[in-house]
Amino acid sequence: MTTPVYAVTGASGRLGRLAVEQLTANGVSPSDIVALVRTPAKAVSLAASGVQVRQADYSRPASLPAALSGVNRLLLVSGSEIGRLVPQHTNVIKAAKNAGVSRIAYTSMLNADHSTSPLAGEHRETERVLSEAAVPHTVLRNGYYTEGYPDHLGEYLAAGEITGAAGHGRMSTATRQDYATAAAAALLSDEPGNRTHELGGPAYDVTELAQIITDVTRTKVTYRDLPPDEYAAVLQRSGTDEATAHFVAALDVAVARGDLETSNTDLADLLGRPATRPADVVHAAYDLVKVTSRTAVIGLIGAGRIGGTLAGLAVDAGYHLILSNNRGPATLSDLAARLGPTARTAAPTDAAEAGDLVIVAVPFSAYREIPTEQLVGKVVLDATNYMPDRDGHIAELDNDSATSSQLLQAHLAGSHVVKAFNTVFFEHLLVLARPHGAADRSSLAIAGDDQLAKKPRAPSSTPSDTTPTTSACSAKAGASRLAPPRTRTVPPDPSTTRSRLRRSTSLICSCTPGTTAKTELPRILANYRPPGWACRGDGRTPRSNRLSITRLGRGVSGHRRTGRGGRTGR
Ligand SMILES: NC(=O)c1ccc[n+]([C@@H]2O[C@H](COP(=O)([O-])OP(=O)(O)OC[C@H]3O[C@@H](n4cnc5c(N)ncnc54)[C@H](OP(=O)(O)O)[C@@H]3O)[C@@H](O)[C@H]2O)c1
Repeated sequence: MTTPVYAVTGASGRLGRLAVEQLTANGVSPSDIVALVRTPAKAVSLAASGVQVRQADYSRPASLPAALSGVNRLLLVSGSEIGRLVPQHTNVIKAAKNAGVSRIAYTSMLNADHSTSPLAGEHRETERVLSEAAVPHTVLRNGYYTEGYPDHLGEYLAAGEITGAAGHGRMSTATRQDYATAAAAALLSDEPGNRTHELGGPAYDVTELAQIITDVTRTKVTYRDLPPDEYAAVLQRSGTDEATAHFVAALDVAVARGDLETSNTDLADLLGRPATRPADVVHAAYDLVKVTSRTAVIGLIGAGRIGGTLAGLAVDAGYHLILSNNRGPATLSDLAARLGPTARTAAPTDAAEAGDLVIVAVPFSAYREIPTEQLVGKVVLDATNYMPDRDGHIAELDNDSATSSQLLQAHLAGSHVVKAFNTVFFEHLLVLARPHGAADRSSLAIAGDDQLAKKPRAPSSTPSDTTPTTSACSAKAGASRLAPPRTRTVPPDPSTTRSRLRRSTSLICSCTPGTTAKTELPRILANYRPPGWACRGDGRTPRSNRLSITRLGRGVSGHRRTGRGGRTGR
């Protein structure tokens, strides 16, 4: 039997992307997965992961035959254009049938057959089209996303209440990750015939959710239930147009009627575990609210070149900063003084305890010394690099059985580790920021296995046109939003780096991933070498990514940091 080819529509969306990841996590080869996307530009990382990316627009039937060619099993993720879903889904179902797809799994809505929700009709109708197409199918009747309310956590904390018209209606929700895991399991199942799954976790109402929020955040939040018309009026007063306000109120009325509740265990059965608890989702949302808050405290463990540079950027961006290292607070007092009143020094345990977000920027050899208990539940940005010459050899890293971030995550069980700011020349953090739309704008790579830490978040304020590069990557992963949108003057070109070099005697930089000092040397020389400087690749070991740049005629021991944490001249 040939290997089935699996296709997922809406693969550039949040649910579809997770479903693709789940298929590969279950052992499906990326080359046997087709990611169907309306906008291929949004699927660059999917393509990089080895899955086949094909363009498919539900509204353009002509785009579908080629997209579905050779596909055996299809996950049809419902579209997002309410009011247009039935013709769109019908196009996909017809094209799938014509392409010989052997099973279609469709993400419908909980209790779609009898729900009074204004969203249910289009799902009910799609299910009918699916039945009539006579292609074996699996209907995944998803409840609301557990993230739905916590996505607005910041607003609830500010208002002290959640307002709505859901009454005591209970909702059986699950996270996108849960639904994606269940969808992948259903798609992989070889069970014949048609199946309908009612999917949701243990039910709760909004009053209970408000109590969970209160418990997690230690901020009192209550639920204020209003008659639907009054709720619609409140929404209108806050800027929602009349039609949308009544639509949203009607969604709550359906919740009040119990249309979003199920006692079915289909979800846990497909997952092989209980659904993610709402409290865990609120915890993660609260971590992110703290991270994105303009008054958030950043704890810095390690304040060398990367740490010191990030310290300056963080203070510029309006954060409070706690600096720490293993040599004691006194050694950082000069840096703290230069950074100003929003920076202070402390021991690493205090920086970990007080930081809403903590950056680890120490030599990797010291990772086991990072405090653990104080970091539970927090997002930890891992800026470490493994340099065997400096750190000594670590067997798991030398034999590629683990990555440095995996070792740090294992050490920091209970934290959300995201790799960021590593393998970057520290000066680049300052000089390569470019305005949105600039042709030479670069990205700062981040990575992580923790889904909650990577969860995207809307910016807490309007992005400016001069968002620094560090924010360019944070748009993809709210958890790493170190620098919130804020207008800042950014040096225009590498000449700034050259002027910095003129004031220093030596710099050490790390090369970009996949390169070594040897391969990077010509580029660094071409771009940054001012007269009188030599670059010496630390090419003693072939894997070294360390490069030293030394002023001719002076020893490296004469290294001098530029003023104010290396941030002068801007
Ligand atoms: N259970 C719930 O609580 C809940 C809540 C909200 C939504 N939903 C439903 O679940 C679906 C998936 O959720 P999600 O979180 O993944 O939403 P999402 O992140 O907004 O993703 C929606 C995906 O659908 C794609 N899409 C929309 N119209 C399309 C079209 N005409 N042709 C091809 N692709 C199209 C989008 O493509 P582009 O990237 O090109 O726009 C995007 O990839 C939503 O679309 C919605 O129907 C469920």
